[in-house]
Amino acid sequence: MSQSTIESILQENRLFHPSPAFVEKARIKSLDEYKQLYEKAKADPQRFWADLAEQELHWFQKWDTVLDWQPPFAQWFVNGKINISYNCLDRHLTNGRRDKPALIWEGEPGDSRCLTYAQLHQEVCQFANGLKQLGIKKGDRVGIYMPMIPEAAIAMLACARIGAPHSVVFGGFSAEALRDRLIDAEAKLVITADGGWRKDAIVPLKDQVDKALADNAAPSVQNVLVVKRTAQNIHMEPGRDHWWHDLQAGVSADCPAEPMDSEDMLFILYTSGSTGKPKGVVHTTGGYNLYTHMTTQWIFDLRDEDVYWCTADVGWITGHSYIVYGPLSNGATTLMYEGAPRASNPGCFWDVIQKYRVSIFYTAPTAIRTFIKMGEQLPKARDLSSLRLLGTVGEPINPEAWMWYHRVIGGERCPIVDTWWQTETGGIMITALPGAIPTKPGSATLPFPGVLADVVDLDGNPVKPNEGGYLAITYPWPSMLRTVYGDPDRFRRTYWEHIPPKDGHYLYFAGDGARKDEDGYFWVMGRVDDVINVAGHRLGTMEVESALVSHPAVAEAAVVGKPDEVKGQEIVAFVTLEGTYSPSDELLKELKQHVVQEIGAIARPGEIRFADALPKTRSGKIMRRLLRSLAAGEEVSGDVSTLEDRSVLEKLRQRGG
Ligand code: WTA
Repeated sequence: MSQSTIESILQENRLFHPSPAFVEKARIKSLDEYKQLYEKAKADPQRFWADLAEQELHWFQKWDTVLDWQPPFAQWFVNGKINISYNCLDRHLTNGRRDKPALIWEGEPGDSRCLTYAQLHQEVCQFANGLKQLGIKKGDRVGIYMPMIPEAAIAMLACARIGAPHSVVFGGFSAEALRDRLIDAEAKLVITADGGWRKDAIVPLKDQVDKALADNAAPSVQNVLVVKRTAQNIHMEPGRDHWWHDLQAGVSADCPAEPMDSEDMLFILYTSGSTGKPKGVVHTTGGYNLYTHMTTQWIFDLRDEDVYWCTADVGWITGHSYIVYGPLSNGATTLMYEGAPRASNPGCFWDVIQKYRVSIFYTAPTAIRTFIKMGEQLPKARDLSSLRLLGTVGEPINPEAWMWYHRVIGGERCPIVDTWWQTETGGIMITALPGAIPTKPGSATLPFPGVLADVVDLDGNPVKPNEGGYLAITYPWPSMLRTVYGDPDRFRRTYWEHIPPKDGHYLYFAGDGARKDEDGYFWVMGRVDDVINVAGHRLGTMEVESALVSHPAVAEAAVVGKPDEVKGQEIVAFVTLEGTYSPSDELLKELKQHVVQEIGAIARPGEIRFADALPKTRSGKIMRRLLRSLAAGEEVSGDVSTLEDRSVLEKLRQRGG
């Protein structure tokens, strides 16, 4: 975030109340009602969650213990039996939603599809039987590397139905990144498509899968299932690769949902941290189902007639929780869009809203800032009167973008929910409830009922109002990550020991800096670790550094984030070269391309600066703080006395951008 953004956030004191018309129909209608609910939940969180689990979800068998907390390991609804695919599909066949649209899909170029609950149920059952035919059993991990097509959601729900944990890998990740994740998850099957549309071009997904699996590099993978989407020529490896439509042909649609243990793994989702390798965040079934169900219902204030659209990709946690599981568990109509705003079709989002009469729209600040640049004539030329509620997620929203969203998209009548959460939290943790909590532009406002959050110092003591500190969660919640796949020690170290536990009391360390104002509103300032947020995508600086040093020309690399008006942050890499190489424009291009190949286009450095040496402390640590200032073009301030060789800094400064 730029200094000016931080300053404007610090000075922000406008307050926006929901309109009486919104409040009248809202599920939670006033700040008092929220506070009562919050206090009730806080007084007895287990009781609060247990009551909701009982009222809102179908269980094959009730749990016997609500929470078993052996810090930092939690189990929720112990011995309960449940299936999230049952909750998302089967129960809506008998509650009047059988013929209601479950999934509306707007594809590229000009394709579309609508599946009712009955149709989606049938597709999922058939596909789940197909998975069984391929030998997939309860507990087997399945990799999903798909474009934004209905089959992505069908595959996830089918895996959940038979108890095979999925691991969705964002379709923008490279073959190398895909391979690492498939190996770590020991996936037995990969589900993909021949290709997917991204901004007027076809992404050759199946080719990437072939590359990832070449030379038996991921030996656990036995089969690949391919959806025909773009119909270009692809290689099909005999015996290994199968077409989705062949597998599904003639397969029975009778596939009862497997009663899963509440704590059975539902999915692994890889995310970036401050150390090299991405972490496999593990989510389990019962608690995740309950938490995504309740948050979707209250935060998006769902009603049966809503058309709900979240613009995330299913490859991210937002797509898991708020395109697929949360909305479907509530019997909502969820919209999935394959396209993205681009020069050739800058108004496409507004066309989708107009075409389907979307009433709830959930997107990212980086997208909003892109729309601002594209100009308000685009949304103004469409009918957006169906909208009644807006949301944002992924990074702090600057007040200017918030105000534009409110005025131009929301027509000054739609509340905005700024939702703070993470891959690890599984669901939204800090947010307005739109009919109840007045909003302040740039603040995620207050914790969801049942969530105990605070801003603390490194000893775990709460800081005073308006003092900066670390965002922490002080009590377990149902959709919390259970562990890092295959690495419980890393789980403990990363999240629970930054703030040392006191008297057996553990705090969850989110990795974000924040402050609470005098009204208790949270203002999230961004990451305090070596994670950067580029256009709402979370990347570890170490990952990008490892990618760079894997190129023969690079001796050392240091990566930092630099403020960017649209993307929030942009990657700047400082590299030193091996002796025989010298800086050139070609090498610069080659290194950028190398990062794309190692990780994916989302990690392409905006800038690479060649350096003779990197600024280090006497103990050899790279001083990123200095590099961050240099990258941002700011004066290097603060203490530089620990710098080993001051001339390094001078040279970098002279070399400039
Ligand atoms: C950031 C995305 C400020 C934050 C759901 C967090 C936010 C990281 C917000 C998680 C928000 C997400 N305001 N910052 N409303 N939402 N973040 O795992 O730094 O991709 O730690 O999950 O995004 O990113 P992740």
